[in-house]
Amino acid sequence: MALRFDQRVAIVTGAGNGLGRSHALLLGSLGAKVVVNDLGGGAHGDGKSSTAADAVVAEIIAAGGEAVANYDSVEHGERIVQTALDAFGTVDIVINNAGILRDVSFHKMTQADWDLILKVHLTGSMSVSHAAWPIMRDKGYGRIIMTTSAAGLYGNFGQANYCAAKLGLAGLANCLAEEGRSKGIQVNTIAPIAASRLTETIMPPELLANLKPEHVSPLVAWLCHEDCEQTKGIFEVGAGYISQLRWERTQGQSFPLGKNFSVDDVANKWNTIGDFTNAGHPATVNDSFAPILHNINNPRLGGNEFIDLDEAV
Ligand code: NAI
Repeated sequence: MALRFDQRVAIVTGAGNGLGRSHALLLGSLGAKVVVNDLGGGAHGDGKSSTAADAVVAEIIAAGGEAVANYDSVEHGERIVQTALDAFGTVDIVINNAGILRDVSFHKMTQADWDLILKVHLTGSMSVSHAAWPIMRDKGYGRIIMTTSAAGLYGNFGQANYCAAKLGLAGLANCLAEEGRSKGIQVNTIAPIAASRLTETIMPPELLANLKPEHVSPLVAWLCHEDCEQTKGIFEVGAGYISQLRWERTQGQSFPLGKNFSVDDVANKWNTIGDFTNAGHPATVNDSFAPILHNINNPRLGGNEFIDLDEAV
């Protein structure tokens, strides 16, 4: 079986370099019609140029594929989607990938550092997805990828703006996955690691040599394929390794309603509250609410079997 993307139209943002270029080349080689979007600026958000996008379009066409360039910044999502409509008549796949860095420790971060990173990563991904959304809803089909980062998922020194934007993307994806569920629109998030101009200064060359963008793109393409039923997933991917993330929640501690509990009670149960033995894996807001509702419905005994019954009377 060779999975293909014939008749599918894909927008890849920031596709002039690095990961986006690799995604675009792979989809183009598998039959997709590709909009190669790239502003063509520097790694810190400076300048613009058509060179990067044009070069990737030329590569796709030279390999026998179909592609057009778009040079708009991602916060103008409607223009990028319009390029897809003008060239290919529709859009099936949006890969939100464009990104820059403005790394600086929080106490030195300026409002401009914050605004620019939020604009490119979070607003940009929203904007392109938002412009494609009505088309996908009408046709009952769509595949959207968000590109988060380990920095966003776990936190990293000197990247407050980037971490906030990147975890915001996971939140956006989770919401769109729910809204798209009944419309055939699937939304997934990747946290990649790859050698690119964003990482070439922060990782040693011998490590970068094994972190090829081409090792990330097969996962992205699979998540964008019509045979793939995955939605609302978050995946870590790099150097040939792929894994899925999920939330984990401790069993927790229920304090009985109708009886005040104190700061000391919280302090005394702190180890239980943080004990991940037999942890659960909530995946929806209903899952989140369930133990709280259970506590409400069992006001004398508290919320679960781990309640300290001596204290619950
Ligand atoms: P890259 O710098 O090689 O490519 C990013 C591309 O996005 C560039 O061609 C740039 O011109 C374009 N771009 C920047 N701002 C744009 C805008 N406003 N509108 C349109 N295009 C714009 O970087 P790389 O590493 O390929 O990054 C791709 C994505 O992956 C980014 O979102 C980045 O944050 C994310 N990422 C990368 C990691 C890595 O290890 N390389 C790690 C975690 C996340």
